[in-house]
This record gives sequence, C-alpha cells and structure tokens, in this order.
Amino acid sequence: MARNPRYDILFEPVKIGPVTARNRFYAVPHAAGMTNAMPRMRAAFRETKAEGGWGVVCTGYVSIHPSSDDAPLPFATLWDEDDVRSHALMTEAVHRHGALAGIELWHGGGSVMNRTTRTPPLSPSGTAWMATHVNFMGNQRPKMMDVDDIRELLAWQAEAARKARRAGFDIVYVYAGMGYLPYEFLLPEWNHRTDAYGGSVANRVRIVRELLEVTREAVAGQCAVALRISLEELRARPSERAESEAHEVVALLAEVPDLWDVKLDSSPTDCAPSRFAAEGSHEPIIDFVKKVTRKPVVGVGRFTSPDAMVGQIRRGVLDLIGAARPSIADPFLPRKIDEGREQDIRECIGCNICISSWHDSVPVRCTQNPTIGEEWRRGWHPERIAPAASSGSVLIVGAGPAGLECALALGRRGYDVSVAEAEEEIGGRLRFETRLPGLASWGRVLDWRRGQLERLSNVAIYRGNLLTASEILELGNTHVVIATGARWARLLYSPLEVPAGRLEGPHVFTPDDIAAGARPDAPVVIYDFDNYYMGSVLAEHLARSVTGVSYVTPAGHASAWAIMSNEQPQIHRALASAGVTLHTLSRVTAFADGELTLAHQFTNAVTRLPCRSLVIIGARFANDALHAELTREPAALAAAGISSVSRIGDALAPGAIVHAVYSGHRFARELDADPASLGHRRDAPLARLS
Ligand SMILES: Cc1cc2nc3c(=O)[nH]c(=O)nc-3n(C[C@H](O)[C@H](O)[C@H](O)COP(=O)(O)O)c2cc1C
Ligand code: SF4
Repeated sequence: MARNPRYDILFEPVKIGPVTARNRFYAVPHAAGMTNAMPRMRAAFRETKAEGGWGVVCTGYVSIHPSSDDAPLPFATLWDEDDVRSHALMTEAVHRHGALAGIELWHGGGSVMNRTTRTPPLSPSGTAWMATHVNFMGNQRPKMMDVDDIRELLAWQAEAARKARRAGFDIVYVYAGMGYLPYEFLLPEWNHRTDAYGGSVANRVRIVRELLEVTREAVAGQCAVALRISLEELRARPSERAESEAHEVVALLAEVPDLWDVKLDSSPTDCAPSRFAAEGSHEPIIDFVKKVTRKPVVGVGRFTSPDAMVGQIRRGVLDLIGAARPSIADPFLPRKIDEGREQDIRECIGCNICISSWHDSVPVRCTQNPTIGEEWRRGWHPERIAPAASSGSVLIVGAGPAGLECALALGRRGYDVSVAEAEEEIGGRLRFETRLPGLASWGRVLDWRRGQLERLSNVAIYRGNLLTASEILELGNTHVVIATGARWARLLYSPLEVPAGRLEGPHVFTPDDIAAGARPDAPVVIYDFDNYYMGSVLAEHLARSVTGVSYVTPAGHASAWAIMSNEQPQIHRALASAGVTLHTLSRVTAFADGELTLAHQFTNAVTRLPCRSLVIIGARFANDALHAELTREPAALAAAGISSVSRIGDALAPGAIVHAVYSGHRFARELDADPASLGHRRDAPLARLS
C-alpha cells in the first residue's frame, strides 16, 4: 500500500548538526534493562527499531564515570575500551538499517548511591535525592562538588564523548534531566552554590553550557551534540528576564546544542500512565522551545497517532517525533505509516509495564509487544514468525488476551485455528476492565488483535460458545489450548502474608461479581492485597455511584506495586479526589453486623470500620477445571486425535495482562518447534581486552 500523502512530512530528512536523520521518527533514550552485561540482546533490541524505520535510535542512560553508578538499576557504562566495543555492537546494528545512533551520556550526581563502586556521589551543594520510592532510597549522601570536581566532571564527559565517537555514535548527548547531575545545577533546591555555578539562572546553566562545549570539542565535528533537558519545574518558575526560568534557560543555550530533546522532570509525569495522561501530554510544558531556538527539537508524549504527530510538526511544536514506549510497543511503527498500514500499528496502551521492568532491573517487557527483549535470546522478530511445522489444527478455548494473542501468532504461522469464546463479546478480562476509570486505552490490546485476526482466513472465532470436555473431544482438533482465564477468590490475608481464610456471605464481593453487575451497598470497603491497579480502580469506579467508599490494604500505600508502573502518585490523588478514605497497613480479620474488624499489619492493634459491602481484591486462581477434565483420560484424547492439551495465560498461572499476552505468544512460537530451539540463549559481557 502507498503512504498517505498527509504523512509525507513525517518522512522528511532532518539535519542535526553534522548528521542527517532520514526521517522525523526519533527513538529517544530509554533504558531497556540490558546493560553492558547483555550487549547482543541490547544491540538486537535496538536494531529492530532501526529496521522498523526509526530515523534515530538511542541508547538508554550511559554512565560516563564510576562516580555515577545506579546499581541495582540496570544502567549502561562507557568507562573503558571494553565498553566501547560493547556499544559498537549496537551502532553497527543500527547503521545496517540506515538509522543514526544516539548515546545519552549520563551522570547521576546526588540521585545515585554508587552502591557498587562505593565512590561518594557528587552533587552541586551536597544535596541528596531523598526519594519516597523505595527503589531510589539509600543512606549514602553526596559530596558537595568543589571546583576540581567540576573540572573532572567536564573531563569525564569529554572522554566519554570521545569514546562514544569511537563506538560509532552519530549523536552524543548531554543529559540535564530528571534529577541527575546537570539538572541538579539548574534547580535552586539542589544548587545552593554562591560561586559562578550558583545563584542566577545564567550561573546555574553554566555547567550545562560547559558540558555541551566540551562534548562538541571532543566529537570534533563528527557527531551531533544533543541536549536532553527536563523543563517542567523550570517552566513553573517565574523569571525576571523571561516568561519562566525554562524560557530563560532555553534562550541562554538556544544555539549551543545541535538538537534539543525536551522532556518532563519526574518519571510519573514524563512517562505518564494512560490512566492519568493522554497522548501529547508534554505539549503545554515544552511548546515554547521551538520559538526560542532555531535548532531542531524532539519531544515525547506517547505518540502513536500519525495525525497527532503531523499536528505537532505543523503547529510548530516539534521537528522530530520522539518515542520511547510507542517504539517498544511497535518497533515497526514508522514503516507501517510509510507503507500506508497505519491500522497495523500496535499502539502502546500506556500501562507502563515497560518502566516497571526497569524498576525491576530486568530486560524490558511490554504488554502489547511480547517479542520485545526476545529478539536475540529467543530469536523472536516482531513482524516475522516461523511457518507451521505441521498441518494440525488448533482449538483455543477462551478469547481473552492470551487466547487472542495465541490465535494471532498461530494463525500467522499458518495453522487452522478455531477460538471458542463462552461470551458473546471477546476480550476476556478486558471486557470489564477497559470500562473502568482511566483504562479505556487498554482496550487497544483487544482492538489490535481483533483487527489483525479479521484478516486471517484460517482463524475462526466462535462467540457464545461454551464448550464442554466431551464437545471438545468430538471436535477432534490436533491441539487444544485452554485459555479460560482466572477468577478472584474470597480469601482474606494472613500475618504470614499469604491468602488465607475464606470469607463467604451475601455482602462479600470480588471484582468478578462487580463485572457481572453486582452493586454493593454503602458503606463499601475495598480490601486490596493484589496491590496492582484493580483495587484502586474499583474504588474509583464504586465511588462514582455510592457515597462512603474506603480502601483497606495490608501494604503501606494504595496500589503499592503501582509505584513500579509510575501510577502510584496519581492513584493516591485520584482516590483522594473521589473521596475514598485510605487505611494502609491494615488486615481485615472479621466482617459481621455491618462492621469490619482490622488489625494493624505490624502491631496487630485493632480498629473497626462501618461496612455493609466488602470487595476483596486479593488472590486469583486459574480456571483450569476444563483442562483437568480433559487430561484425566489420555486414552479418550488419543481416540479423539488430540495430541496435546495445554494451558496458557491466567488459566496456567494468573498474572497481569502482560503475562497473558506473552504466554499466548510463546505457546504459539513453540508449538511443534524443534526442542533444540526452545529455551533462550544467555548473553554475556564481551570478553575483556583491558
Ligand atoms: C522503559 C523506559 C526506560 C527509560 N529510560 C530512560 C533513560 O534511560 N533515559 C531517559 O532520558 N529517559 C528514559 N525514559 C523516558 C523516555 O525517554 C521518555 O521520556 C518517556 O518514556 C516519555 O516518552 P514516551 O511517551 O514516548 O514513552 C525511559 C522510559 C521508559 C519507558
Ligand atoms: S508496556 Fe505498556 S506502556 Fe510500555 S510500551 Fe508496552 S504497551 Fe506501552
């Protein structure tokens, strides 16, 4: 198909200093959990984006010196020649597809703890980031930088820039964002200096200018020099010389970098979850930059719609469309637009499982794209899949996220696939969950798969089709895949931190009951030890129709795990504005006569809450009865010609949607595969030369 001329502008080349990007699609710096310890995985992961049409593909944050050590978070390094070789794998891979390679040189300043190198962190005035997020907490406080430290910092940046050039990078960054060292100089909360680097905006910006200058000198005209900067806080500060301190900073540095890469300050606003922020949410903060500089500007905002991208360019907001998450969810997004296949774009849903994998210090995962991170170690390509290894037919029971992903991947392999769904509507848990507050975008998991499946003539979906074991035997497919999901349990929670003690009763509900239309009477108590989104989203949902919703959890916060997906701060705000009262560190021990008894999780101190309806969001168990029944009689299966019965997704092990999609995809990849090809290759650091 031909490209829609409306989108031609996205494919115009953009000159960035001495180099030229082939188009306006810019995969911005983002960590992927693959440090220098996994150089082949990392190169293959970034190569896929270049193959998918991104004009520029960047690394994640790369430490310039051992005094910037983010362990245990997965950061990359450029400290020696071995690191140069490690990164060169990526630049070669990216260049093979005609893209430019960018590297984000990074010093964490007072926001890192240097746990491995045990070097005192550095910060402009000895100020530390005293985070509320446990991943970022620590006890090491930074050293206040003196002039020698500043001189050394500039030398480290210059040396790293020379190494970056040797590694083959085309764009070399100075990173002044998100609480890291150059940003710390920009903000008066961090910077209390009274020398030439503190006080006025012109003084606070001095280190950034000097870092840009030494970088430019180091790359000697061979690479473009980019500045990535967070502008949210600065924009909120009035300035006597400009509209805001952000305006003043950008004006002071306007033509110094070859490229402005602009973003927000904290991960929850920069990498904002779709539950609380729409596509293009950065615009009100960064919209002025292009008016102040003549240099190209790249910005982000979970851009997946080509019309929104064109709008950003035509309205003079951005020159290059930056993307982290959209390039994870669909590394082939630019190519699909180029080929007139916009409807094939697997749009990011904004769930932030990807950022949670960084917080978990593991290779990146994605709800929408099960192949991400598996390019090298399992040889999975997002757009290609091996043809069927046999002519067998497959019956999938259940059209939720796992079943649909499995059907799609098997269908693409060429198998004859039937999907039997008990309900009239496909989607499994998505049917209900996407109707809950803020979760509409998650419907893209279903919409994309439905759209793709409609084009496969070898996959048939039978709705309203509740199959029994004997009916499955009669159908006689070669393979049967059970994808019947999971159910929530009416279990309480023990001091051993495991689900225990069944609580039945007419006023005890689970999310399944609410999904089926139950309407709990007030006062309602949400009791959440699942700790992800469901508890808080149901509290918000119920608070819209009843007055008197409380939220109880044995954890320290509402939706405690959602700190990993950047959602927790907004969840607390949303619950507060919905009038939901919070009771943290509290365990439900009894529910009778309109009263709930709570025990403090640590002290066991008892409190009581009025409660007419209790909604328990805790344990989930697989709906695996059908699987058990089918596998009870192997002889009957053999007689029916069924050679395998398997479980995928929640029916195998209940998890988040990301787990279900991955499970369905993996099953499809591995069906009939040569056993020797299963499992995954283990990456390792390159052998050291130095
Ligand atoms: C998994 C992940 C890792 C990230 N790591 C970095 C990083 O190393 N350096 C950086 O400047 N920004 C990082 N970011 C922020 C992104 O570059 C980007 O600013 C943010 O995700 C918003 O862009 P998007 O809406 O296109 O995702 C990361 C984002 C994600 C999702
Ligand atoms: S994990 Fe979620 S937010 Fe991240 S890229 Fe995938 S769909 Fe988008």
